[in-house]
Amino acid sequence: MRRALLPVLLLLASPALADPAAVARGLRLAQANCSPCHAVGPEGDSPNAFAPRFRDLGAREPGRSMDEIFAKALLLGHPDMPRFGMREPERADLLAYLETIKQTGAAGPAGR
Ligand code: HEC
Repeated sequence: MRRALLPVLLLLASPALADPAAVARGLRLAQANCSPCHAVGPEGDSPNAFAPRFRDLGAREPGRSMDEIFAKALLLGHPDMPRFGMREPERADLLAYLETIKQTGAAGPAGR
């Protein structure tokens, strides 16, 4: 019974690492701009089969920080991805969200 609580506590604790308001804004940005191709939330598959689920981004390249992965994606763009003209504070908000969903994905029961 106590063991079962640990993943739940991790889930609850991880958003506290980032500013919740920034994370909420980042989620809205992701839903508006990225969800046509990427699975942006804790569940579901990407509509575009070639686009990694956001919750899997950290696991794909363990050595790299989310900041690096994100910077490269914005710099190089990726197939079919529209240009986003992502500037502060949008960039920071989206990054805050990606960091959070990355941790949720790693700790959550559905994390793959
Ligand atoms: C029209 C489709 C599309 C949209 C919209 C889109 N992406 Fe992507 N994204 C892709 C595809 C396809 C890939 C895989 C590219 C590859 O592996 O070469 C990808 C890969 C990525 C990666 C991984 C890059 C890497 O180096 O591993 C990141 C990060 C990313 N996208 C972020 C975003 C963000 C943030 C948004 C919204 C602001 C977004 N994408 C919107 C299609 C899209």
